[in-house]
Amino acid sequence: MYEDYLYSMEYQGNNNNVHNDQENIPNNSNTLPTKISTTEALVTLNRNSHSNYNMMLNHEIRQQHQHLENPAYAQFRNYENAITKMPGIPRFYKENHENQTVEHVVAMKAKYSRLDNGWFSIWDALEVMDGLVDSADPDVKTTQAVHALQTAEAARRDGQPDWFILTCLIHDLGKMLYFMGEPQWTVVGDTFPVGCKYADKIVYREFFVNNPDFYHELYSTDHGIYTPRSGFKNVHFSFGHDEYMYMVCKDYLPPEALGIIRYHSFYAWHTEGEYTWLMDDYDTETLKWIKLFNKYDLGSNLLDEPPNIEDLKPFYIDLIATYFPPKIRW
Ligand SMILES: [Fe+2]
Ligand SMILES: [Fe+2]
Repeated sequence: MYEDYLYSMEYQGNNNNVHNDQENIPNNSNTLPTKISTTEALVTLNRNSHSNYNMMLNHEIRQQHQHLENPAYAQFRNYENAITKMPGIPRFYKENHENQTVEHVVAMKAKYSRLDNGWFSIWDALEVMDGLVDSADPDVKTTQAVHALQTAEAARRDGQPDWFILTCLIHDLGKMLYFMGEPQWTVVGDTFPVGCKYADKIVYREFFVNNPDFYHELYSTDHGIYTPRSGFKNVHFSFGHDEYMYMVCKDYLPPEALGIIRYHSFYAWHTEGEYTWLMDDYDTETLKWIKLFNKYDLGSNLLDEPPNIEDLKPFYIDLIATYFPPKIRW
């Protein structure tokens, strides 16, 4: 009851959003109600498992997922299902595809590459995620902290190297962007290059017709502003948690780990085979690791009981300390 009340309170007067009356699910992909910008606020939020924002996301995800049957592997990333059963997802991608322009991406990379949002540990960020459910993801229904630990634990059970287990643990921590006040459309969802023609297999490609870059003289051409085989490192991707977490980690992790973190949401490439004309040798190597990573990222939540965070904490604190100093810049 309290959650419902809070939810409606937060969205009063927010009538400009696309709204699905039939489903009666408000759009939560605009500016989020909980805006914080300092380390202190992040830590406070971290300790408060009943933050307004967490409740909102959990509320929406429950409404959307109550229609879904138990997933099986074959149902992962089933966006046709999502159109009818999870209307928040196409609504999210409409906003994402309309707003992720070259101009936006360049501005966001400049803003976040400064890493001036505070100093805190990897584990602090993980605890902040305990309460956040990503409503744009059709497969993950757990909190992001549970998702992180399930992904890492599945890799650990398979005897993967320590850097890989750590990568599984932290791959989605760039969703801290939510808590820095960014709207959902520039935090989560599949990523894609901007500045060249949108590939056919990008999810919900039809929504690009309202993106100004779609009609740009250069950006709408096959190669746009890029040279073939120049590597994804020279490409601007739609801005989200992948790129941000790469920025946060780039001084600490091996190249294989950074490739997984930076491109794991680039499904049009690693799953659909688009944009191979841009790849360099590093990207070819990264592809192998991402294929392995996907097995854990997509599948782990079906295999486990929810992990006990406190039980696992000592192991992961040690693992984190192998690669990261106690606090890093975000
Ligand atoms: Fe992700
Ligand atoms: Fe993930």
